[in-house]
Amino acid sequence: MSYKILLLPGDGIGPEVIGEARRLLSWLQDRRGIAFETEEALVGGCAYEQEGVPLSDATIARAKAADAVILAAVGGPKWDALPFHLRPEAGLLGIRKELELFANLRPAIVFDALIDSSSLKPDVVRGLDIMIVRELTGGVYFGEPRGISDLPNGERIGINTQVYTTSEIHRIARVAFDLARVRQNRVCSVEKANVMESGRLWREEVAVVHAKEYGDVNLSNMLADNCAMQLLRNPRQFDVIVTDNLFGDMLSDEASMLTGSLGMLPSASLGATDAHGKRAAMYEPIHGSAPDIAGKGIANPLATILSVAMMLRYSFGHAEEADLVDKAVQNVLNAGIRTGDIAAAGQQTVGTVGMGQAVIAELDRLSS
Ligand code: IPM
Ligand code: MG
Repeated sequence: MSYKILLLPGDGIGPEVIGEARRLLSWLQDRRGIAFETEEALVGGCAYEQEGVPLSDATIARAKAADAVILAAVGGPKWDALPFHLRPEAGLLGIRKELELFANLRPAIVFDALIDSSSLKPDVVRGLDIMIVRELTGGVYFGEPRGISDLPNGERIGINTQVYTTSEIHRIARVAFDLARVRQNRVCSVEKANVMESGRLWREEVAVVHAKEYGDVNLSNMLADNCAMQLLRNPRQFDVIVTDNLFGDMLSDEASMLTGSLGMLPSASLGATDAHGKRAAMYEPIHGSAPDIAGKGIANPLATILSVAMMLRYSFGHAEEADLVDKAVQNVLNAGIRTGDIAAAGQQTVGTVGMGQAVIAELDRLSS
């Protein structure tokens, strides 16, 4: 049996970091006997150039047929003037929606070796390990009505709609509670119940799921603005944060910066488990396409490598190998190996390939 993986390199540094995912998949196959069949497809700006749309039906079909998708990054200034439905981001949003990847897991972890890259004091962030669970297929990103139209008085009006139903809230809450149980058993649910009806419903329905199914997990609620502040004041108070699509977008960017290393953070986007036990899943580094350094061979591949580790853990149940990859990355950092984005002034750096090879060498060492 082999796992079918669809690789979507996308734009900018995407193809470079995906190369290191391939290297890791080969290693897992050769050294750990985990078989992968990989194919590649286009998404984002490159898909628009070659196929006329940022996400073709053919690519959607291949993503649905795969056991997991690994996406690197989409976007770039070149496509800034395009209408929304043709922009590279529409490709990303399209995959999320088509595969119903409603649960976005964004860990924010501070690696000891990189603690000085955080903009916060080491004492505040040492050992930080937060999991942000962001709802990904609902809310204001997809709500109707939406659009820009003309008013009779000559003004224009722009509309987006924040909307959540009970079932959407229940399923994301369950993901958060399940994760908390294998972590520190704490969930903080974040919304604006003080001003938004959708936020009030969110709070009430998270409480319903909690009372019925997860009484053993500690649940707290926090307003989103306060959460943004608390993340800077005392980030270690959080274990799992569960929140909607838009707040999750913002809070996860904020949390990522606590770690000082955007180039280090992976993510998983998961769907529901179907009757055959299959769960749609996409894994991606949270950094963008970094057009300014594309093609130079200097991009940090660690977030992509850690995304492969998340895939092993969440899609395939290979926790042992996932731990091994996490450990190898940690050791490589402890050994002072750095790409430019995580190097201190004057520190020697390696390129994308050099970093990928260093991780493989460490994996060889750890598993020999
Ligand atoms: C993210 C990104 C996307 C989002 C963009 C690229 C559409 O910011 O994954 O956080 O807003 O969801
Ligand atoms: Mg974002």
